[in-house]
Amino acid sequence: MARVLVTARLPGHSTERLAADHDLTYRDVDAPMPRDDLLVRVAGVDAVVAVLVDRVDAELLDAAGSQLRVVANVAVGYDNVDLAACAERDVVVTNTPGVLTDATADIAMALVLMTTRGLGAAERRVRTGEPWGWSLTGHLGTSLRGRTLGIVGPGAIGLATARRAKAFGMEILLTGRSEPDRRAVEGLGALVVGLPEVLRESDVVSLHCPLTPETRHLIAADELRAMKRTAHLVNTSRGPVVDEGALVAALESGEIAGAGLDVYEEEPHVHPGLLQRDDVVLLPHVGSATVETRSAMADLAVDNVLAVLSGGDPLSPVRG
Ligand code: GLV
Repeated sequence: MARVLVTARLPGHSTERLAADHDLTYRDVDAPMPRDDLLVRVAGVDAVVAVLVDRVDAELLDAAGSQLRVVANVAVGYDNVDLAACAERDVVVTNTPGVLTDATADIAMALVLMTTRGLGAAERRVRTGEPWGWSLTGHLGTSLRGRTLGIVGPGAIGLATARRAKAFGMEILLTGRSEPDRRAVEGLGALVVGLPEVLRESDVVSLHCPLTPETRHLIAADELRAMKRTAHLVNTSRGPVVDEGALVAALESGEIAGAGLDVYEEEPHVHPGLLQRDDVVLLPHVGSATVETRSAMADLAVDNVLAVLSGGDPLSPVRG
């Protein structure tokens, strides 16, 4: 019987499938496992189902021991996992691509709408009981039709966001490290350009790239300065892709018009300069947070563990 550690509460019933044939340690708590606890509990397990706030590094792998065969991350992003350290120890790493594409693209589009129409501030106004009344000139945002959305990172989620924006009448620019799917580009009538052009031409820049050493602070002071003063920045990827201090400075000096953020540099800490601004919309990293999507993510992670433990190939391996 293999030993499996699940570090946090999973939605749905996927842990039952693990418990059926394996010795399961399930931490049925809706919060990250404290590091000290994690290092103790991981000792001797064959598989770990981890969440994106668990740091899977050499220390954790050594604490687990050489019998560890698979780390299944319940996320599409895997910047919390040291892939080289896993490869050195022959530990398979898996993620959950595909199943969260629509949910995350929905949130990106929601942030596009919320930031361009100032809906965060508008909602707060009603909620706080501040006097308001209908007027022709109150709460004016900007329209999306005919405006340009720049997608940085045109993978599955970036392209799904672009398709939504297209339905709202936006023109699409795409930029990324690898060439986007040609048919998708044609379907969108999109242009593939460099980052400087995306920054210069877009009315909304939406970030969808993974966090890697190359994309850390991809959007910093110079990039923000290169954007239109009327433009908005949306980030549903990973917080450190944006230099948060530079973003606050750019908003303060009017270099860009607003931002919609679902992710932050030091989650759950949010830069105080963002908290007090009315031109930003702040969500608590909920890109994939629907019942259906989170259940599908948990199922896929468990399927990956079961496949590896039974000697088969993982369904969605991450290749470093
Ligand atoms: C969520 O942020 C994910 O990477 O799945």
